[in-house]
Amino acid sequence: MLQNRYCGKLIVVEGIDGSGKSTQLSLLNQWLRARGYAVAFSEWNSSPLVRQATRRGKKKAMFTPATFSLIHATDFADRLERYILPLVKAGAIVSADRYAYTAFARDVARGLSRKWVRNLYRFALKPDICFYFRVPLETALRRIVGGRNAIKYYEAGMDLGLSNDLEESFRIFQGRILDEYDVMAAEMGFHVIDAELSIEEQQRQMRAALMETLGDKLNTGVLRAQPGATHVE
Ligand SMILES: Nc1ncnc2c1ncn2[C@@H]1O[C@H](COP(=O)(O)OP(=O)(O)OP(=O)(O)O)[C@@H](O)[C@H]1O
Ligand SMILES: [Mg+2]
Repeated sequence: MLQNRYCGKLIVVEGIDGSGKSTQLSLLNQWLRARGYAVAFSEWNSSPLVRQATRRGKKKAMFTPATFSLIHATDFADRLERYILPLVKAGAIVSADRYAYTAFARDVARGLSRKWVRNLYRFALKPDICFYFRVPLETALRRIVGGRNAIKYYEAGMDLGLSNDLEESFRIFQGRILDEYDVMAAEMGFHVIDAELSIEEQQRQMRAALMETLGDKLNTGVLRAQPGATHVE
């Protein structure tokens, strides 16, 4: 990935479904905004360019692992070039709920080669910090079932024919993804958070890690949303 030489910063959260990424990133964004920073948010699989095709393909279960991977890479390229990069160049903090690492974990769990997937995303901007929310499978499953009461077809890897039972397939597929994340953690320099801790404790650790990694850099050149705010506490 390409080193970030711009004034803006890129913060990423990663982890399996139900690990608490969105909860933590939303709290971190609120905190950064309250400190006067211009913070933008970008979510995995949200580009309008491929939304229709993704929806149609998913509905009819038409994707192969390769086409599914390529459509996510297209989504990513569109968001990176039209949204993430211009904002980082302008000096904003961009926080991303999932990044290329999600593809590295999921697409490999779908049977594609590590080298092929990493090569596909070589145009990506390297995050300034990537938090990895490590959680046991059972905890994630409990949270998902408790929260939205439905596991989705592709989230469970049902396209792979691992099991006819949705929950069983989810367990096998997410287990593979978890293994990939764990392998990547050291290689990619993830900041690992124990995602079984309380929401408050995880947030405290995130803020501390962010300040330790980027503290000084946040004082120079990062765009401010409020004219009055001039320093980091
Ligand atoms: N530390 C925690 N302890 C207990 N429950 C939590 C914790 N963090 C998040 N949750 C709950 O777990 C559920 C999943 O959290 P969240 O949506 O943040 O996960 P996620 O990683 O973004 O999942 P997805 O990948 O599916 O978007 C939510 O109902 C949330 O309130
Ligand atoms: Mg989420």
